[in-house]
Amino acid sequence: MNQVWTIAETHPVPPCTIVIFGASGDLAARKLLPALYNLEHCGQEAIPPKSAILGFARREMSLEAFRTKAREAATRFSRLQIDEERWGRFARSLDYLSGLDRPDGFARLKGRLEEIEQARGLPPNRIFYLALPPEAIAEAVEKLYGAGLIAPPQAPYFSRIVVEKPIGHDLHSALQITNTIRQYFDETQVFRIDHYLGKETVQNLMVLRFANSIFEDFWNNKRIDHVQITVSEEEGLGSRAMYYDGAGALRDMVQNHMLQVLALTAMEPPVSLAAGAVRDAKVNVIRSLRPIGPGDARKLVVRGQYAAGELGGQRVPGYLQEEGIGETSRTETFVALKARIDNWRWSGVPFYLRTGKRLPRRASAIFVQFKRVPEILFNRRVALPPGVLAIRLQPDEGSSLEVLAKRPGLDLSIQPVRMNLQYSAEFDGASPDAYERLLLDVMAGDHTLFLGARFVHRSWEFVQGILDQWQDDPAMPLAPYAAGTWGPKAADELIRADGREWFTP
Ligand code: BG6
Repeated sequence: MNQVWTIAETHPVPPCTIVIFGASGDLAARKLLPALYNLEHCGQEAIPPKSAILGFARREMSLEAFRTKAREAATRFSRLQIDEERWGRFARSLDYLSGLDRPDGFARLKGRLEEIEQARGLPPNRIFYLALPPEAIAEAVEKLYGAGLIAPPQAPYFSRIVVEKPIGHDLHSALQITNTIRQYFDETQVFRIDHYLGKETVQNLMVLRFANSIFEDFWNNKRIDHVQITVSEEEGLGSRAMYYDGAGALRDMVQNHMLQVLALTAMEPPVSLAAGAVRDAKVNVIRSLRPIGPGDARKLVVRGQYAAGELGGQRVPGYLQEEGIGETSRTETFVALKARIDNWRWSGVPFYLRTGKRLPRRASAIFVQFKRVPEILFNRRVALPPGVLAIRLQPDEGSSLEVLAKRPGLDLSIQPVRMNLQYSAEFDGASPDAYERLLLDVMAGDHTLFLGARFVHRSWEFVQGILDQWQDDPAMPLAPYAAGTWGPKAADELIRADGREWFTP
């Protein structure tokens, strides 16, 4: 067996209560409850046994109904199968309280928390997971304070809040949310989640770049022609019409997930692995992004909206026909853009970003295309393709390096070959879901994989430049694309104008 070096252990987790605000919603069902069940299931007492999970939402629901809903969610979305004994233990740790929107909702929350803690012999360590729309965050924080639910950071037990991306709807609201949170919480108590940072392959980006000496030498504008980041999704809206129609792909994916991946790909080596050092390195990338200034959005950004089409052999409706979407909606479900990082390492190297819903398949990948060799030897008469490093974030996690090799034979023929690393072949066992890792880190108080406020603001600043132009210029095209295709033609033209092509993940 290969040797393994453990660089950082997971931190010990104290018993606590996790309050999921918005527990009857989509995020709780798809991600949070299945992840918490998986942590119960992984058999190492990842969550200490006395801990409790309290669902808190507007909707009236009995505890039994909540447990049933949680079981359905875990059955559908958990990476592990339901084991009756473990499920029984997990179900007993669940509780539910309705009335999030009632005037006395937070006073009742306080009472219920005290009851749970007393019954289970739990210290008042509390995590408030705000799985709420951005506009509801500030109010929830103020009400937590009003109900006396926020312990000071120096207390012998902890109060923490978790805020989900997108943090805010634009730069202005993001700043407001930060200000409100800072009024009541110390930064050490705040965990801003972007679940892409919890993905194994995204964490591996730092290991790949900084645990191997070979990459650093070519990771710059001398060797690299350009970088592409594609995050494509097969899924449409699901039941999220209300949220998504007010957000769109730029706010939902680019401002957070894609800019995080870009920052990890492009950042300088941080001075240490400490959370602050990694945050500094990432923020510097975002600070160096060339703003998409007035008039540039038309040239550098393509937005699209899916029309009806075919996916997986089935007809699927267009965005405007989805339930809950108005016929005249101008919300984009696809964005492609060309970004520039104005620093010494990346000057002259474009970063092309592309994301969309209802594309042919779910796949996220980074492609690093190298420069061509000089036109002296093999490259003299034909234009041989340059090498490409493909980092596959999901699914089929891994990476491959495409290089040219001589095809065996009496003639001199050259063809591309792939050196491939496939996680599933190399490592045993399925990777934990991003939310498992992140929830455990919140319980342990480890900030390494969470966003700093500066990143949130800087990334909004970049995106705001585009949003403003879209708003000011109603004639800005919103290109339709058939569901099941790789997006509008304009996205191909964007990259082709530079003599390049999108790689298909
Ligand atoms: C969420 C977005 O943050 O990420 C969704 O709000 C998107 O619209 C999802 O579908 C994608 O996450 P993953 O882990 O499936 O790539």
